[in-house]
Amino acid sequence: MSDIEPQAVEGLLDAAFGSDRFGRTAYRIRAGADAVPALSFALVEDGALVGTIQCWPVAHLAPDGTITPLVMVGPVAVRPDLQRGGHGRALMAHMLEAAESLADSALMMIGDPEYYGRFFGFDADATGAWDLPGPYEKRRLLARAVNGHALPTGTGMIGPR
Ligand SMILES: CC(C)(COP(=O)(O)OP(=O)(O)OC[C@H]1O[C@@H](n2cnc3c(N)ncnc32)[C@H](O)[C@@H]1OP(=O)(O)O)[C@@H](O)C(=O)NCCC(=O)NCCS
Repeated sequence: MSDIEPQAVEGLLDAAFGSDRFGRTAYRIRAGADAVPALSFALVEDGALVGTIQCWPVAHLAPDGTITPLVMVGPVAVRPDLQRGGHGRALMAHMLEAAESLADSALMMIGDPEYYGRFFGFDADATGAWDLPGPYEKRRLLARAVNGHALPTGTGMIGPR
């Protein structure tokens, strides 16, 4: 994403999620973290930003102190006037291909299982005992093993590494 103005990404995220997005639980999980460059991409057409995907280093913290690193996927966002044109799928597929060889841990995200399960193999099977630092719907807390990294299944709080 090096040649994309950070402000352009922020503008796209405002358009896709609304400018009140910073109160979302996802933002609390990755508070203070920098995106993982190898797993964060921008989709540019004719010099204009069309979509973006960012991933973040987070972790599952068990009550006994065990820390399991995870990568949080998202936000995934496509410019509202260009949604439903396959761009979101392209961004996710590109990120997952990179994650297959580069991810340092399994993946988690907050999202619609109807979308991320159907196309990308995410589900809530491992996340039932997880907790987040803010409100969320259990069915939308999704995860996926990748690059040989398994998912923690026990009780734990998800937060910054
Ligand atoms: C969600 C988003 C990234 C998808 O990207 P997109 O380019 O619009 O979608 P695509 O064209 O790649 O995929 C479209 C397919 O996914 C389905 N789909 C899209 N969003 C969906 C959702 N939230 N739930 C279920 N299905 C969904 C569409 O029905 C379509 O299926 P079809 O091909 O059978 O018609 C995009 O719509 C967006 O930015 N939305 C606002 C921000 C957001 O909610 N991001 C996700 C949370 S991190």
